[in-house]
Amino acid sequence: MADKTFTLIDNANNRSMELPVRQGTQGPPTIEISSLYKELGVFTYDPGFMSTASCKSAITYIDGEAGVLEYRGYPIEQLAEQSHFLEVVYLLLYGELPAPAEMENFEGIITHHTMIKEKLKDLFNGFHYDAHPMAIMTGVVGSLSAFYHDSLDIHNPQHREISAHRLIAKMPTIAAASYKHSKGEAFIYPRNDMSFAANFLHMMFATPCEEYVPDPVAVKALDILLILHADHEQNASTSTVRLAGSSHANPFACIAAGIASLWGPAHGGANEAVIDMLEMIGDVSQVPKYVAMAKDKNDPFRLMGFGHRVYKNYDPRARIVRKVCHEVLASTCHAGSPMMELALKLEEIALQDEYFIERKLYPNVDFYSGIIYRALGIPNNMFTVMFAIARSVGWIAHWTEMIADPHQLIGRPRQVYEGAPKRDYVPVDKRRKS
Ligand code: CMC
Repeated sequence: MADKTFTLIDNANNRSMELPVRQGTQGPPTIEISSLYKELGVFTYDPGFMSTASCKSAITYIDGEAGVLEYRGYPIEQLAEQSHFLEVVYLLLYGELPAPAEMENFEGIITHHTMIKEKLKDLFNGFHYDAHPMAIMTGVVGSLSAFYHDSLDIHNPQHREISAHRLIAKMPTIAAASYKHSKGEAFIYPRNDMSFAANFLHMMFATPCEEYVPDPVAVKALDILLILHADHEQNASTSTVRLAGSSHANPFACIAAGIASLWGPAHGGANEAVIDMLEMIGDVSQVPKYVAMAKDKNDPFRLMGFGHRVYKNYDPRARIVRKVCHEVLASTCHAGSPMMELALKLEEIALQDEYFIERKLYPNVDFYSGIIYRALGIPNNMFTVMFAIARSVGWIAHWTEMIADPHQLIGRPRQVYEGAPKRDYVPVDKRRKS
């Protein structure tokens, strides 16, 4: 029994129940309700999981009211400033920062799994040249399960580990190949002598006939963006991966489900939608008009890159991205870019507006990330793919955590049925015309 209990009183039926209250290492107390139906014959209803924890996890902690994000206890600001992406990947997967030899070994493993099977190229060729790269990613990542039969026993910890390594290492290769396919250009093989971020830029922008030397500022900016997007606890795509995985589906199929969920404009598609929105606004003079539209309940327009289900404060990632954005624009001769001016003005006006203040709507991580990607030469339809490369780390860390849990259950929500009550079938010739 938990230390504390919560007493549920059902006045209508003159009964009560003691529910255990769980306390995590941080965060609010949580009332455990799993025995409610068995004991009292009632369900709980919480669409959108506004107050419901779907699992226990030791990976990432968020305090949305305070604007705090920690990976395995380490503040995101410290990791963005002092760490690098592959070290953060190790931390998320294994729970601790690596010792120097562990880091070297891990970097070697990831670097040597970046190649994709030659046969996979045929799959890319099956896609039309103008296919959205996220559509290609969903299909190609899902297909990895057809290539690695040697490591798909989800109950074997070594198989789970090698699947995680393969996924993380191959995501940039598949992402860059999706881009090259859309351009009708040759795929570029990965380079083992480059860092994770530099290698990705190389696979995106090199051609077989010309050497490409990644700009160190671009490499650093990309590395930070990868760190910031690597995990965000039980968001829609991670919850999708967990739910798909709860049936013991193979990891690549589960990650493909996560990619599909990420694609939506309310989630990972927002960075692309922010740029579309800034282009639509077009000029600083138009900002008040669009802010008014965002506030108008009869207008479906929303300020993309604003608001968050969990953060009711400035998204800590957005603060870091905003700074990186200034640095990248300055170094890539885009300083004073009209798009950045527009974004800053929009942020300034919205943050002073009663509508946004009352609802605690602040810029989120996607508000400035698209501007950085654009300055790095990454096209709009690749923005969500960039998010997917980073988030694949969180997805596979959560999937691994879930499968390793001896108490793991298949996810099976209940519902409030609002359809027709029981009725008898009527043969077609006896049905009334409506
Ligand atoms: N512009 C204008 N009004 C907004 C916005 C916005 N971007 N976001 C929320 N609101 C209003 C909303 O209309 C509602 O008003 P009212 O209380 O009067 O009905 C109130 O704020 C609460 O909004 P909600 O939709 O109930 O909040 P939610 O937690 O369900 O949605 C959200 C969160 C992120 C889906 C939403 O804020 C949104 O659509 N933002 C724009 C899309 C976006 O930037 N998404 C990226 C999220 S961060 C990256 C990631 O995690 O994937």
